[in-house]
Amino acid sequence: MENKIGALKNKQVYFTDEVSELDTFIEKNKYTKVVVLGDNNTIENCLPYLNLFSSYTANADIIEIDAGEGSKNIDICIGIWNMMMDYEMDRKSLLLNVGGGMVSDIGAFAASTYMRGIDFINIPTSLLAMVDASHGGKNGIDVNDYKNMIGGFNNPTAVFIFPTLLDTLPAEEKKYGFAEIIKHGLIANEKHYDAAIAYLQEKENSDLNELIVDSILIKIGIVAQDPFDKNERKLLNYGHSLGHAIESSFLALEKPISHGLAVLAGMIIENKIAVALGLLTENTATKIAQDIQSIYTLPKIKADTIAPILHYLLLDKKNVDASIQLAIITKIGEGKVAQTCSTAMAAAAIQSYSEEIK
Ligand SMILES: NC(=O)c1ccc[n+]([C@@H]2O[C@H](COP(=O)([O-])OP(=O)(O)OC[C@H]3O[C@@H](n4cnc5c(N)ncnc54)[C@H](O)[C@@H]3O)[C@@H](O)[C@H]2O)c1
Ligand SMILES: [Zn+2]
Repeated sequence: MENKIGALKNKQVYFTDEVSELDTFIEKNKYTKVVVLGDNNTIENCLPYLNLFSSYTANADIIEIDAGEGSKNIDICIGIWNMMMDYEMDRKSLLLNVGGGMVSDIGAFAASTYMRGIDFINIPTSLLAMVDASHGGKNGIDVNDYKNMIGGFNNPTAVFIFPTLLDTLPAEEKKYGFAEIIKHGLIANEKHYDAAIAYLQEKENSDLNELIVDSILIKIGIVAQDPFDKNERKLLNYGHSLGHAIESSFLALEKPISHGLAVLAGMIIENKIAVALGLLTENTATKIAQDIQSIYTLPKIKADTIAPILHYLLLDKKNVDASIQLAIITKIGEGKVAQTCSTAMAAAAIQSYSEEIK
């Protein structure tokens, strides 16, 4: 474990419970000002812990936004920029994003565009953000119901992961965060997948910290091969073409579901497509669906939601020339990017999911 934590540190990812390491880092970089961005839950539950040990966060100005995906939009972003100006942040100021993926996505976007870009540090507070959203440099906001339509690539100056912050994360959110750990296992490492499922089924006392560290190593390893998402990195989008389309269609109905649940449903549907394409065995697809269903109550897709999901799917950023492009798995621990699938094939897979998950 020490070696793995050391490997992360070399990539400016600090996995520690020593909040003082954050102060040492900030001290070294001589920022003119430090501002904390968080949502109402993370400001209430996580900031007080950081403030116990960090004089920088304790003395920082605070920008608080409402919790929930509904805040990841341009209006809230304008509010953030206005407060950054009110706080007189300059190009040598630092933004600390203290929150889940919603906060790090919009915070990284706001910091990357403010005065053509200032430094920001992600301090993820949700499991999903610890293993996924806070790494890899993608930032962005949603437009209406369309997920991550506007945004860019820009790496955080550092990521500080304090696992203690998970203590206040609602149990359901923690469980949803596991969706990305499961995804990392399915695309890259069967053992990681088995360990995640065993942890969730409470069969084995796998160490959560080790699962987190392994999951980050998988993510940043894939990102390093292709930082700008042209090829190998698309593997991380496994489950997400369908997942985002499902998330958007529920958002449009004003019944938002968690990103993690949408991705789990997305993986099951994309596996059905991979089976139809002859790239995955039916047995493996069934095993994965059973594993997931033994742990999660999956979102139900009613017959009249299939058309809206297809509509959002066709707008997916990974599509080329209006043909649906998917990252799929060929077995547990291995995947393939840029597989073309027809609209009819996608419709049939969603239909089949909708009949199975009632
Ligand atoms: N940039 C990327 O590479 C990337 C990758 C994956 C996901 N994402 C994005 O991340 C977002 C989802 O992230 P999320 O699941 O963390 O959602 P989130 O940020 O909305 O957090 C979920 C909920 O948990 C609360 N919360 C978070 N940490 C807490 C804590 N320690 N104690 C108490 N409450 C806490 C939040 O206030 C919120 O209500 C989506 O917008 C998704 O698009 C981005
Ligand atoms: Zn995701």
